[in-house]
Amino acid sequence: MNTVKTVLELRAAVARARSEGKRIGLTPTMGNLHSGHVALVSKAVQRADFVVATIFVNPLQFGPSEDLATYPRTLAADQEKLLQAGCHLLFTPTVEEMYPHGMADQTLVSVPHLSEGLCGASRPGHFDGVATVVSKLFNMVQPDLAVFGEKDFQQLAVIRAMVRDLNMPIKIIGEPTVRAADGLALSSRNGYLSEEQRAAAPALYRIISQIGTSIRGGEQDFERLLDDGKRQLESAGFRVDYLEIRNAGSLRPATAQDRDIVILGAAFLGTTRLIDNLHLHEQ
Ligand code: PAF
Repeated sequence: MNTVKTVLELRAAVARARSEGKRIGLTPTMGNLHSGHVALVSKAVQRADFVVATIFVNPLQFGPSEDLATYPRTLAADQEKLLQAGCHLLFTPTVEEMYPHGMADQTLVSVPHLSEGLCGASRPGHFDGVATVVSKLFNMVQPDLAVFGEKDFQQLAVIRAMVRDLNMPIKIIGEPTVRAADGLALSSRNGYLSEEQRAAAPALYRIISQIGTSIRGGEQDFERLLDDGKRQLESAGFRVDYLEIRNAGSLRPATAQDRDIVILGAAFLGTTRLIDNLHLHEQ
C-alpha cells in the first residue's frame, strides 16, 4: 500500500489503476481507525479492484468550539490497519493541499433540508463542510463507488442527496455500524470517555433500541416514547442533544403512518458527544 500526500500523486496512482481496467473504490475517513473503518475498507475491497482510503481531519466540518485540535491522529497504526484490510492506496493530504486558496473563499457544497436539524442544528455548517470535502475527494479520485458508515446516518443521507443532485456517477454504499460487545457504536470519540463514562455509554443504543422495539410492537405515541427515552438517558448520566423518530428518507419527523423509520440520538457524556441510530426498515 502506497501513501501519497499530494493530489498530483493521487491522480497519477488512480489513473494507472484505471488504465489497467480496475474498478476504483473510495473510503474517506478522518483516521484513528477502528474496526468500523476496517469494515468500510473491507466492503470497498469486496466491491472494487483498487481501493483508496483517505485520512484527512477536515477543519471545514468542525465548529469553533469543537475538537479539531485534539482529534486523535494515529497515522502509523492506521496505515497498518489499512494494509491488513487490503487497501491499495492511502491519501493523507495536508490542510494546505486540500484548501490551497484557504477556507474562507472555498466554494461550498450545501445540501438543503437534510443538512438542517439533528446534528446540523447543533453543529452549524458541519454538513456543508462534509459535503464540500467529500465532493472534493470524489473529484480527485473519481471513484466508481464509495463506502460510508451508517452510524453517521444523516451524513450518509446528505452524501446520497449530493451525489443524486449533482449527477455524480458514483455508487454510494452504506455499511452497518460496528459495535462493541456491550452495544456501544465504535467511534474515535469513544477514546475521550473516562472509565465511568465508558460504562454509561451503551445506554444510548440500549434506549434507542428499546424505542425501536416499542415501535415494532405497535406503539404509536412517539412523543411519549421520546420523553421516556430522554428521561432514561438523563438518568444514565447523559445530557441529551436530541432524540428523534424520523422518516428515514426525508429525515422529517415521523408519524405513525411512516413505514421507513429511523430513531436517532445524540447526547453528551461530559464534553464528549456521542451519536447513534437505529433504522427500522420498511415492514
Ligand atoms: O465520517 C467522517 O469521518 C467524515 O465526516 C468524512 C466523511 C471522512 C468527511 O470528512
